[in-house]
Amino acid sequence: MIEKLSGPIDAIASAIWFILPAYFANAAPLVLGGGPPLDMGNKFSDGRRIFGDGKTTRGFVGGLIVGTIIGLLQGIFQAPLGEHLLLGFMLALGALLGDLVSSFIKRRLGIERGGAAPGLDQLSFIVVALILASPVKVPSWQVIAILLIITPPIHLATNFVGYKLGLKSRPY
Ligand code: CTP
Ligand code: MG
Repeated sequence: MIEKLSGPIDAIASAIWFILPAYFANAAPLVLGGGPPLDMGNKFSDGRRIFGDGKTTRGFVGGLIVGTIIGLLQGIFQAPLGEHLLLGFMLALGALLGDLVSSFIKRRLGIERGGAAPGLDQLSFIVVALILASPVKVPSWQVIAILLIITPPIHLATNFVGYKLGLKSRPY
């Protein structure tokens, strides 16, 4: 019985362990973001902002550094260090780029900064993080499936906490 129960719990734990740099990179800009927007106020050909004021250089660089540090810490706990460090960097970069893709699409759809785009908001960062990490490591299909299932509720819960702490103007 215990063996049967430990299976899925182990799988969920290893999925979270794997994706941790992406989660941290996605959340860090809530604290570290601010200052000039990445698109420097520039507009796309449709007359709307490229990314909008919610994507800042400080948030991007801060998220990249924090995610990479998480990879470094994982490497200190679990060899090989180099692979964890590289994975941390690639997962963080992918998470931040995925988040930018999501904002770019939202602006093209006419959704203003902070407006909700269910699915896109919760999953784009994880999908692009997995793609960028794939040259270094492709997790098992079970881990990928678990991540696609658990990330939306984790993302919503994190944002709600950020809203309660006053880091975010909207609860989602
Ligand atoms: N943030 C940042 N830089 C980034 C990503 C996020 O500074 N590259 C900060 C911004 O303060 C942003 C907050 O983190 O408002 C929450 O991120 P997110 O929900 O992704 O941005 P939104 O404000 O909702 O904007 P969008 O509609 O473009 O997603
Ligand atoms: Mg948002």
